[in-house]
Amino acid sequence: MTKFPYQTALITGASSGIGKAFAYELAKKGIDLVLTARSEDKLSEITEDLKSKFGINVTYFLADLNESDAPQKLVHQLEQGKITIDLLINNAGIGKWTNFLDQSVTTYQEMIQLNISSLVSLTQLLIPNMLKNKKGGIINIASTGALQPCPYIAVYCASKAFVLSFSESLYGEYLDKGITVTAICPGNTQTNFQVTANANTNGMTYESPEKVASQSLKALLDKKNNKIIGYNNFLQSFIPRLLPRKTVINIVKNMMNKKVNA
Ligand SMILES: NC(=O)c1ccc[n+]([C@@H]2O[C@H](COP(=O)([O-])OP(=O)(O)OC[C@H]3O[C@@H](n4cnc5c(N)ncnc54)[C@H](OP(=O)(O)O)[C@@H]3O)[C@@H](O)[C@H]2O)c1
Repeated sequence: MTKFPYQTALITGASSGIGKAFAYELAKKGIDLVLTARSEDKLSEITEDLKSKFGINVTYFLADLNESDAPQKLVHQLEQGKITIDLLINNAGIGKWTNFLDQSVTTYQEMIQLNISSLVSLTQLLIPNMLKNKKGGIINIASTGALQPCPYIAVYCASKAFVLSFSESLYGEYLDKGITVTAICPGNTQTNFQVTANANTNGMTYESPEKVASQSLKALLDKKNNKIIGYNNFLQSFIPRLLPRKTVINIVKNMMNKKVNA
């Protein structure tokens, strides 16, 4: 079996869901971890559990990535702890299923800060060391919502379209310099996301966060530019490519209007 090529991973949004699943997948491989999120109780419990079960080094730093200087502060803490990150997992994110006008400007600004700006900043701050060592991996969590326009989830899906486009552009810039950047598009996944997003997913199928994490790591090792998680999601991703864009907008509009305004 090929040795896992990275030593120390930073995972954002590691206190629950997909981020937590990444932590356990990587711990099984013996990778040292730096976890970050806002919930100290959860991070502390996960850290202790990982240390005792897997005997790896695990550190956590609290960060609210809605704050524009949080990525810089986080990287400063890494430098102070002499921790070099060669695998960055930009996972933290929030969404809202909503009529566009039903949320405040602040809600959207925070979503954009977390899902886009902090992700770009952390990526830019951590690439120089990866370049110096000619080795790095970056996994950015987008969504199947990145693959087509989504009426009633407009800001969230647009933010994930940014993540997909940004990641694939960097894939092009850095692959031959030793850094793989892989965008991941999960569909519905069983986490706290649906609660914070007020998402009515009745009748929809779910993937597990563990499957998302393990398939994402495989995609990174396979040097993929993107990976859609789950066979059904993969098949459905073809529809927007085959139909006129206006037709796709109407299909999603009719489906989501029923869910959001039921
Ligand atoms: N679940 C799905 O159906 C689904 C589908 C496609 C894509 N995704 C994407 O998957 C990623 C992970 O979400 P999840 O499904 O695992 O949901 P989750 O269980 O709600 O986890 C979200 C994580 O983000 C952290 N977070 C939220 N706001 C933050 C902030 N301001 N600063 C720092 N950390 C923050 C949360 O930690 P704290 O609250 O402790 O800060 C938590 O660890 C997100 O980017 C999401 O968009 C999810």
